[in-house]
Amino acid sequence: MSRIALFASGSGSNFQVIAEAIQRGDISADIAILVCDQPDAYVIKRAEQLQIPVFSFRAKDYSSKVEFETKIVDKLREAGVDFIFLAGYMRLIGETLLRAYGGKIVNIHPSLLPAFPGKDAIGQAFNARVKITGVTVHFVDEGMDTGPIIDQESVRVAEDETRESLQEKIQKIEHTLYPRVIKNLLTKAVVEGTKK
Ligand code: GAR
Repeated sequence: MSRIALFASGSGSNFQVIAEAIQRGDISADIAILVCDQPDAYVIKRAEQLQIPVFSFRAKDYSSKVEFETKIVDKLREAGVDFIFLAGYMRLIGETLLRAYGGKIVNIHPSLLPAFPGKDAIGQAFNARVKITGVTVHFVDEGMDTGPIIDQESVRVAEDETRESLQEKIQKIEHTLYPRVIKNLLTKAVVEGTKK
């Protein structure tokens, strides 16, 4: 069974649906650890309720990204993590994590990449008045939302759409797309024997 780490910075609705899919037996994996860079984030409460171990930290308590990512890698190795899924983790992954887990880090981003990378992708798409936007799941490389795309799903922006209603639509898509992609990736990794 794969051991996965989820990384998050905020509310953790994606974390929640992934944890529930695992509990239901839809995804064959254990969430070995939640890594969170915002010790006050609601996602930590969700993890505690589900009795999932948490490593939370504040970047400003470390002298560099190398230093806090080295600590994260130690925690991941201790927990026997095979794959990392970013679920609203609002930091660029650095060389230390990429060296340790390159090719095994996946992110979900709320736009049809390569359109609207970076922060507030939903707001960027809304302000650009695009008619179609969506969600992308991709492997993480050293760039900002630039890694190879695994899957995407689109959504139409209605005439009377608001920023909030668009966010709701996008999150609804995320909550089915991400668990499905995770399930497929982990199944493929087990079949190919590349779990680690
Ligand atoms: C999600 O919409 C995710 O796509 C986005 O953060 C949100 C987290 O929501 N991620 C990014 O923008 C990454 N660049 P959640 O905390 O409710 O899962």
